[in-house]
Amino acid sequence: MFLWGTATAAYQIEGATGEDGRGESVWDTFAREPGRTRDGHTGDVACDHYHRWREDVALMSGLGVNAYRFSIAWPRVLPLGSGEVNERGLDFYDRLVDALLAAGVQPVPTLFHWDLPQALEDRGGWLNRDVCELFADYAATVAARLADRVPLWITLNEPFVHMAFGYAMGVHAPGRFLMTDALPAAHHQLLAHGRAVQALRAAGARQVALTNNCTPVWPASQEEPDLKAADAYDVLHNRLFNDPILLGRYPDLSAYTPSLDFIRDGDLATIAAPLDALGINYYNPTRIAAPTGDGLPFSDAGITGHPTTAFGWPVVPDCLRELLTGLKSRYGAALPPILITENGCSQPDTPTEHGTIEDEARVDFLDRHIAAMRQAMAEGVDVRGYFVWSLLDNFEWAEGYHQRFGLVHVDFATQRRTPKRSYHWFKEFLKGQNTDT
Ligand code: BGC
Repeated sequence: MFLWGTATAAYQIEGATGEDGRGESVWDTFAREPGRTRDGHTGDVACDHYHRWREDVALMSGLGVNAYRFSIAWPRVLPLGSGEVNERGLDFYDRLVDALLAAGVQPVPTLFHWDLPQALEDRGGWLNRDVCELFADYAATVAARLADRVPLWITLNEPFVHMAFGYAMGVHAPGRFLMTDALPAAHHQLLAHGRAVQALRAAGARQVALTNNCTPVWPASQEEPDLKAADAYDVLHNRLFNDPILLGRYPDLSAYTPSLDFIRDGDLATIAAPLDALGINYYNPTRIAAPTGDGLPFSDAGITGHPTTAFGWPVVPDCLRELLTGLKSRYGAALPPILITENGCSQPDTPTEHGTIEDEARVDFLDRHIAAMRQAMAEGVDVRGYFVWSLLDNFEWAEGYHQRFGLVHVDFATQRRTPKRSYHWFKEFLKGQNTDT
């Protein structure tokens, strides 16, 4: 069955951050610090999904998707990251899973979408190797409750973005500015993934995947410094996270770190445990030029000549085809089936005087990206699912509520949900799909 779904993440939609025994996450701490998010927005209320989940499941069932990718908040299940389990947190996801199944929607949980328990951040966060074992324990705890009904699991969401924005550049929680010294945060996330794969399989999970954010990298010119910088960016954004998982080895990192002593014997074998699928989040390509002397081995040259989203991201649908066929040629038989676990765009989405949201640009974006995915499939790439980011307008991390990605508009003052034109378009589209292929 081809999975057609929507995707969300716990901190971006749930709210209720202080309810039913949930512990603090790094995002609670970070968003409260002045100047960290636009207009000081936090996820304290977000879409209030923790209370309105029935309405949100009904929106999905009305849409006609057969899958839903959401994330489980580690601090809801283990308020201190380890130790005592908060059964009320597990109860929430248990009820959600049952409601999804009753609505004919396959639950696809992600175990980590950036909301590390603050208690673990206080012990060094992803720079501390001990967190890998604690993640495996957390995975086992969740799977013990849900694996009887959840066939497909995703361990991590975008370890690249978490490392780069959270640990290298400090623009996401936990707000560290370590530049290339952030590399241990990549390795420890990957090792945690590998240990979680073992824990999930031991608990009866049938299928396990990991989601990476990938981008086609275009050199700004064919001059040697730009080509070298583009290669460095490809290594740090794409290959650092795909090579160890799929090939059991890291690309050459010697130019970026004085020492790789955080990698121990046996780690790569754990990281490379076979997966049932690779999740790919795709938003845009990246154009890279030679470094400018800020400490990074590349610089962002920007892309012109294409339409852009409200975020300013270039819209280049054919790059999804380029990305997928590129993965196939790079990894060959080592590439498992692919799930597009996120694809979508932010748009201004102002309601009309009649209260409708005419997001034609999003309809066009989705239509053209789905066509590009199908072109890649026609060229031999095994894609098994496509999830729109996102079901709802939500808390867009450092941008707060300023970027709207939803198929459903959320009025954050009233929590009123209004399906946009794109929701109605996707619903009609899904009616025409044969989900067996
Ligand atoms: C993340 C989402 C985020 C989206 C749009 C992805 O990197 O997984 O959480 O909202 O991009 O920025």
